[in-house]
Amino acid sequence: MLDRLNTIESEGLAALKQAAGADALEQWRVRYLGTKGLLKEATALFRDVPKDQKPAVGARLNEVQRALQEAFDARKADAGAPAKFAGPMLDLTEPGLSPALGRRHILTRVREELCEVFARMGFEVASGPELEDEEHNFTKLNIPADHPARDPIDNFYVDDPFKSARPRMLRSQTSTVQIRVMETRKPPLRIVAPGRVYRPDTVDATHSFMFHQIEGLYVDRNVSMRDLKTTLLQFARAYFGPEAEVRLRPSFFPFTEPSAELDMKIALRPGEPPRWIELGGCGMVDPAVFESVGYDPEQWTGFAFGFGIERIAMGKYGIPDIRLLFENDVRFLGQL
Ligand code: DAH
Repeated sequence: MLDRLNTIESEGLAALKQAAGADALEQWRVRYLGTKGLLKEATALFRDVPKDQKPAVGARLNEVQRALQEAFDARKADAGAPAKFAGPMLDLTEPGLSPALGRRHILTRVREELCEVFARMGFEVASGPELEDEEHNFTKLNIPADHPARDPIDNFYVDDPFKSARPRMLRSQTSTVQIRVMETRKPPLRIVAPGRVYRPDTVDATHSFMFHQIEGLYVDRNVSMRDLKTTLLQFARAYFGPEAEVRLRPSFFPFTEPSAELDMKIALRPGEPPRWIELGGCGMVDPAVFESVGYDPEQWTGFAFGFGIERIAMGKYGIPDIRLLFENDVRFLGQL
């Protein structure tokens, strides 16, 4: 009986391997596991097995039945599985995911472009602190103690827990860097100083409590107003194109004499008529400023200027609202 079971098992498993296709599998099932199949036959013979052999033969019978059933179930599951995908695993016609590319902020790019244009004219880049004192923001720039520009309403003075002799403030102009540079260096010199400035203005399309300026300072012997205008015109043509024009309007700043308001005429887009935009102030360095930093005003002369960088960026790229530059909406920044 045990021999019989061994044969059914080994022949059954071998036959199952050979069975190809659903029909062959079904035939195999009927032959081995069916109600009139070989296992059923063997089970019927179990009655005649001598009593002492019954436990061993019974166990074996169960074993063989389970082995054949499991092998059959596995084949069936295999046959039912979907055919394996045979083509290439990569669909080369799918549009790809383009990686999100970052870029430098438009103000950063304009600042670097401005510095580069001035560098070609021999100006070095200088910088100074944004947290300043009144000495550098006002006094040494010849802005008297009672001048309205010092009004706390118009400036960000900073609480000073140490009550030091020099009240601190966020600088309201980059002209502070003129003083810082002249205090530490001897003339002649030529610098530009880009940076942030702070004023408690109400935010609207053209005002922000923080914005950027680029300051210029040129000190040498016999510097004249003509040098100033030539430098500004060359800058305008290099940066905005050969059609750009420069206009100086008489004005007043405590640190320059004479002083002027500076406009540039630029075409925003090819074909459009150029228009004047106001960029900032300029003038000849006041002798009182030279004195405050220990330069001899009899020997040294100079010009200075200060532009708003946002103004330049807005003029050059046709940006209608300064707030767009600070909201950092990538849908906007991605267009520039
Ligand atoms: N600091 C001035 C301002 O913020 C701009 C300015 C005017 C700068 C004349 C200068 C200058 O260097 O000579 O309004």
